[in-house]
Formats: sequence, C-alpha cells, structure tokens
Amino acid sequence: MIHLFKRILFKPVYNRWDSLVNRLRKNEKIIHELQNRLRTQEQITEYLIESPIFNQAQNVGFNGQIQRKQIFKGLMNTFPIQSIVETGTWVGNTAGYMVIETGIPVNTVEVNPHIYRLARKRLENYANIFIYQGNSPEFLHRLAETEIADLFTFFYLDAHWGTTLPLKDEITLICNAWKRYIIMIDDFQVPGDDGYRYDSYYNYGPLSLSTFGDLFSKYNLIPFYPAAPSAEETGSKAGCVVLFMEKDVKTAESCNSLVKYHRTEAH
Ligand SMILES: C[S@@+](CC[C@H](N)C(=O)[O-])C[C@H]1O[C@@H](n2cnc3c(N)ncnc32)[C@H](O)[C@@H]1O
Repeated sequence: MIHLFKRILFKPVYNRWDSLVNRLRKNEKIIHELQNRLRTQEQITEYLIESPIFNQAQNVGFNGQIQRKQIFKGLMNTFPIQSIVETGTWVGNTAGYMVIETGIPVNTVEVNPHIYRLARKRLENYANIFIYQGNSPEFLHRLAETEIADLFTFFYLDAHWGTTLPLKDEITLICNAWKRYIIMIDDFQVPGDDGYRYDSYYNYGPLSLSTFGDLFSKYNLIPFYPAAPSAEETGSKAGCVVLFMEKDVKTAESCNSLVKYHRTEAH
C-alpha cells in the first residue's frame, strides 16, 4: 500500500528524471559527433597547408608502418595481383603509396565529401588512381558489376571510422562477386601481441577473430597475421589480418612477413 502510494506520488518526478537523462544522452552523442567533425576539419586544414600534394615518404602510407609495407610488398611479389581496391581513402596516402609501389590501378572510396575532394586534389597527378565518393558497400556493389570482379584483386579494407562498421557487408560482397582475391583488414587484433593496436566498436565489438571468425569460416577465408612482433613495427602500430582463399594458402605460407593463424594460439 505504502509502495503504491510512493509510486503515485513520485511518478511525475521519475518521468521528469527519465526525460532529463534521455536529453543528456542525446546531447552527449551530438557533442561527440561535433567533436569528431571538428577534428576531421582540423586535420584537413593541416593537410592543405603542410601536404597539399601527395609525396612519397617512408612514413606515408599504411599508417607509416614499415613492417606492413613489407607485408604488402611480399604479397605483390608473390601473387599475380591485377587490381587493388581500398575502402576508406582518407587523404590518399595508402592509395598513393600502393600505386607508386606497384603501378597497378587502385580503386578507392571515401564517404566524406570534403575528404574525398582533398584526396582527389592530392592525387590528381596519378592517372592510375580512381577515387569515388560514397559508402563502401555500395561502391563494392557497383565495382562487382564491372570487369574488375574478374581480376585477381588485393583489397585493403580500412573504411572504419565513426560509429558504423561496413566490414561484414564488404567481405560478403567481395566473396560473392570476385573470382580471386586477398583481403587485408587494417586495425585488426593480432592474436598474442597486444602491442598491435586494434579498433573496437560499441555496437559491433572488437575487430578480432572472436567477432569475425564465423564470417571468415563461412567464406573459407584463411587468416594470416604479421610475422614481425609489434616491437619491430613503426608508425601507428595498427594490427592487421590478411585473408586468403584456400587455393592460395600454400603460396601464402611462403611469404616471410606473414604467419598462418593456428587455433592453439591465444587470442
Ligand atoms: C582510417 S581512414 C583510412 C585511411 C586510408 N586507408 C590510409 O591508409 O591512408 C578511414 C576513412 O574511411 C572513411 N570511411 C568511413 N566509413 C566509410 C564508408 N562506409 N565508406 C567509405 N569510406 C568510409 C572515413 O571518412 C575515413 O576517411
């Protein structure tokens, strides 16, 4: 009886409190988004002043990571790659690096229209780089309908920033449409080496085998990781996973910069 009386008496207070908390949460989200946009604008300004044209340098491309560049070079020397596709162009540093290193055409997509325009400007001297503006799954869907889907393609999946994560859609689209491919995912947890940085998403979980293992198995993707310990990596020290089709695993095992994942390892 007393309990019921209290509930009736305090109901308006509870309701006000709930709506206040909801408003605060909404405002917090808006502030977080504005902070991200401001940070991006500041970085764009910095690039416009300091590096308006892409220039090759050791610390430019693949997060400035020398070991990652070794992995990339190893793959390019070992496999007859015919096409490169990147999701998440940012200002074009890795696209520029990959095209200079290989001469292979690079198709890349950027969702943010301001960043896209900056990347186009910075890379305007490279005829072999094709930059698109849009959401990566839609871009891959369109690309899948072209002759590029018939080419042995190296994918660099790096369109993960902000609150959404298109990775599952990207992998599904690639595996359903391309005849032959190798997929490298940036910011991925390296089992047994926490010195490698990896991303974690509130709605999706960490970029790790525990989150994506089932999807990899569904498409018979065999994961390999950097052979070099994080202590020997430079730049952002972001981890990665490189996924191979079953028919390419034997050849992949000959790449010194990569090790095949074994289930017994800690992760
Ligand atoms: C980590 S940065 C990419 C860095 C770039 N790959 C490099 O190595 O220089 C991520 C980029 O992906 C973009 N992005 C985020 N979500 C995307 C999506 N769904 N489609 C396309 N681009 C996206 C972001 O705007 C950001 O510029």
